[in-house]
Amino acid sequence: MSDETQTPPEWRNFYGRIRGKTLRSSQKTYLSEDLDTLRPEGVTRDENPERLPIEPAALFGDDRPVWLEVGFGGGEHLVHMAARYPEVGIIGAEPFINGVAMLLGKIRAAGVTNLAVHPGDARDLMEVLPAASVAKAFLNYPDPWPKRRHHRRRFVTAEHLLPLARVLRPGAEFRVATDIPDYVRQTLIEVPKAGFALVASVATPWEDWVSTRYEQKALREGRVPHYVTFRRL
Ligand SMILES: C[S@@+](CC[C@H](N)C(=O)[O-])C[C@H]1O[C@@H](n2cnc3c(N)ncnc32)[C@H](O)[C@@H]1O
Repeated sequence: MSDETQTPPEWRNFYGRIRGKTLRSSQKTYLSEDLDTLRPEGVTRDENPERLPIEPAALFGDDRPVWLEVGFGGGEHLVHMAARYPEVGIIGAEPFINGVAMLLGKIRAAGVTNLAVHPGDARDLMEVLPAASVAKAFLNYPDPWPKRRHHRRRFVTAEHLLPLARVLRPGAEFRVATDIPDYVRQTLIEVPKAGFALVASVATPWEDWVSTRYEQKALREGRVPHYVTFRRL
């Protein structure tokens, strides 16, 4: 796939939630004090209407490997991975502002310094990342969209997977965790079509996995987690 930027849409549908319950005052403080320094510049259309590529490694001050987490929710996995792999820089994308605020609280508590946070849609971020600039990507418990007519909203569709394939470098790992059997089915069909080889599809988590809020909810409700690993061709 070439690095030619396709004409980006002027707007895109986002069907998830952007706001939840009222933020605590501590969370408002995290958002006002910490987000600006953690947020990559040049991702929003206002800042970068021409959609020029940003330089992800520069976010971390050197040429370290850069990883991406899509839809980090409350940020448990993102902060855990940042602490576990201090030599890597990880960018998280999440449009749900309450989740972003939760992440910022966890970043303060953990003291990790190798994270960047895009408080918005991962598609906007992927659009401005250079080709082959990301060494690993995580998609943990993506929104399930259970109704058949909504399956096309799932992340594991060409609209999301082709941009992801473009930004991942050859050999990069792409991990998907989900508790929805039909999501596993669609993942195993759609991800290889976008230029990935299946490595594993199992019920045992990765050795460095940490359970997320959504996984805990799934377990309480009797659903069974599933972990799928791909490699970018
Ligand atoms: C079911 S939650 C899981 C959250 C977290 N990964 C976990 O395991 O607890 C799915 C998350 O994906 C986010 N999301 C959905 N579409 C997204 C997109 N296009 N870009 C980034 N995040 C997205 C939602 O806002 C939501 O927080």
